[in-house]
Amino acid sequence: MDFTTTYLGLKLANPLIIGASPFCDNTEVALKLQDAGAAAVVMRSLFEEQIDAEQLALRHHVETPAESNPEATSFFPNFSEYQLVPDQYLRQIENLKQALAIPVIASLNGTRPGGWTDYARRCESAGADAIELNLYQLATDPTMAADELEADLLETVSMVIGCVRIPVAVKLSPFHTTPAHFAVALEKIGASGAVLFNRFYQPDFDIEQLEVSPHLKLSDSSELLLRLRWLAVLSPHLKGSLAASGGVHDAADAVKAILAGAHAVQLVSVLLKHGPHLITSMLSGMEQWMGEHGYVSVSEFRGAMNLARCPDPGAFERANYQKILQSWRV
Ligand SMILES: Cc1cc2nc3c(=O)[nH]c(=O)nc-3n(C[C@H](O)[C@H](O)[C@H](O)COP(=O)(O)O)c2cc1C
Repeated sequence: MDFTTTYLGLKLANPLIIGASPFCDNTEVALKLQDAGAAAVVMRSLFEEQIDAEQLALRHHVETPAESNPEATSFFPNFSEYQLVPDQYLRQIENLKQALAIPVIASLNGTRPGGWTDYARRCESAGADAIELNLYQLATDPTMAADELEADLLETVSMVIGCVRIPVAVKLSPFHTTPAHFAVALEKIGASGAVLFNRFYQPDFDIEQLEVSPHLKLSDSSELLLRLRWLAVLSPHLKGSLAASGGVHDAADAVKAILAGAHAVQLVSVLLKHGPHLITSMLSGMEQWMGEHGYVSVSEFRGAMNLARCPDPGAFERANYQKILQSWRV
C-alpha cells in the first residue's frame, strides 16, 4: 500500500500527523510518536502576546535609563517573566530537528499585523520545515465588520508569509461568514494550506460561585462532521493542501477526512487519551479499509467524496437540511 501524501509541499510517509499540542515540548515523546508512525509533528503555538511581551521587555531593558522612575515604567512586563519562552521554543525546534527524521512544523498564534510576525523567520532559521499560523480570534467587538476583521487577518498572514521561504498553513476558525471565500483569499496571498479547524474552548458557568470556569474537554468523533463538510466544500477550490484537525479518533475517521479532501490528518485528543500506539493501529485500520475497497494508494481516494465528486452534493447543502427536518416524525 502506498500511504504517501504531500502536505504543504512536504513529502510525508502517510497522512497522520501530530496536531499542535504539548507533545513536542518533550523530544523523547516526539520520538515515540515518530516510532509509532507519525509522519510529521506540529509544535504547540507560540503566541503573539508572548512575542510582543518579550520585545517590549527587551526594549524596556535597552532603553530605560537606570535612574528612571520605576512608577512611570511599572506597566512594562517583567523581563524575566518572558525572556526565555520564545527562545526556548526556537531551541526546541533545533532539538526536534536533530532528533527526528520527520518534518517539524512550528506554530504561531496571532491575529493582528505587527512585529511579532517576524518570529516566523526565526522559526525558519531554527530549522522548521513549515509554519502553521493559528488565527484564533473571537469576533466579540460589535463595531467590527466581517470584512474589516478578515482584511486584518489577511494582512497578518501576508506579513508572516513575507518573512519566510518555507510554506505557511493557516489554521482557520469555523466561524467565518464566508469560509470558502476566505480560504481562497488566503491561497491567493500565498498560503500553502488550510487547517480545518481551530477548536474554540467553551467557558462554562459555575452556578454556585457565579464564576466563569474555563475547561479543556478533549474531542470525540462527532466533532469531525463539521470538518468533513468544509473539507469537502473547499477541496475542489484549493490548489494547496488541506489538513483535518478535530475529532479524528480512529481509522474510519481518518479515511473520512481523506475522502473529503484532506492531505493530512492531525491527531491530538486521541493520543492524549490512548497514547502513541493508536497511530500504529490507525494505520493498519486504514490499510485494511483500502484493501477491502480496492485502493492501493491514499492519493487514489483523496477527495473522492468532495463536493465536486460526491454522488449527492445536496447532502452537504441546504437541500439536505430540509429533507432531514421533514423526515422527523413524532
Ligand atoms: C492540550 C492541548 C493543547 C493544544 N495546544 C494548541 C496550540 O498550542 N496551538 C494550536 O493551534 N492548537 C492547540 N490545540 C488544539 C489542537 O491542535 C487541535 O486543533 C484540537 O485539539 C482538535 O484536534 P483533536 O480533536 O485531535 O484534539 C491544543 C489541544 C489540546 C488538547
